[in-house]
Amino acid sequence: MTAMKPYPQSPKRSVPAGIARPPYLGEAGPENYEGSDVQSDETVEKMRLAGRIAADAILVAASRIAPGVTTDHLDAVAHEFMCDHHAWPASLDYRGFPKSICTSVNEVICHGIPDKRPLEDGDLIKIDVTAYIEGVHGDNCATFYCGGVDEESKKLSETTRESMYRAIRVCRPGRSVSVIGRVIEKYARRFGYDVVREYTGHGVHTAFHSGLIIFHYDEPRYDRTMAPGMTFTIEPMLAIGSARTTQWDDGWTVLTQDGSRCAQFEQSLVITQSGAEILTLPSGGTPILGGDPADIDLSAID
Ligand code: MF3
Ligand code: CO
Ligand code: CO
Repeated sequence: MTAMKPYPQSPKRSVPAGIARPPYLGEAGPENYEGSDVQSDETVEKMRLAGRIAADAILVAASRIAPGVTTDHLDAVAHEFMCDHHAWPASLDYRGFPKSICTSVNEVICHGIPDKRPLEDGDLIKIDVTAYIEGVHGDNCATFYCGGVDEESKKLSETTRESMYRAIRVCRPGRSVSVIGRVIEKYARRFGYDVVREYTGHGVHTAFHSGLIIFHYDEPRYDRTMAPGMTFTIEPMLAIGSARTTQWDDGWTVLTQDGSRCAQFEQSLVITQSGAEILTLPSGGTPILGGDPADIDLSAID
């Protein structure tokens, strides 16, 4: 297995005139969000739309995964899909990020920049897509296989997905958000996997990253209470070896220091009266499972 390295990037993609830009673009970063963590029914309804576009964009891009296909091509496909559905690809120009989605391969943990590297047989690829439409965001990520992936990587990916769903299932009003990290870390440790600590889930709605933090490890000191209408992501990153991170000097690409592989899944959620609802559901209605791109069903997507 060869180590990841940066490849050339394609020229910047443009978004058709008429698609509303997020207000923070062109700034060093968004303004700090000072509002509530709880969103109105109207905002949540818009987030279902943003979430559906972001989820469909993952599936459409992931269906193209094959040896020889570049991550830049996946970016082009997701970019076009979001534009066709009148959404701004929220990663594009976010704090200077140059592309419309994040593609993080093998030991790249997150924030990988799509480039001209052709995918190789056996690669594990995380696709993270955020769509912005009607003033709100939908943010999700899934891990897919390129060609024949080794059993250890599949186990890692499935465990990461299951850790996220276990965490989603324990969400409900009145509980502390700290149950999320406790559930994820406990489950990961059972299989000997390590949880990335530096990158967390976050409040998401009109703000891309609101300031509310969702830890993926046990952090009992941060105990905000879940309430109906709260919207946030859960997005665990698990590594086969150590989850200690390093970063390329592109200012974005985050990798494991030890070169071990990493998997990630992410959903945007709203806390309901009795649990949590996934806002990033594809048109087909089944939550994204990741894995083999041959299993992706695009028939419900227009
Ligand atoms: N989608 C990522 C998250 O889950 C953020 C990506 S920011 C980017 O929070 F600029 F790298 F795109
Ligand atoms: Co996120
Ligand atoms: Co994301």
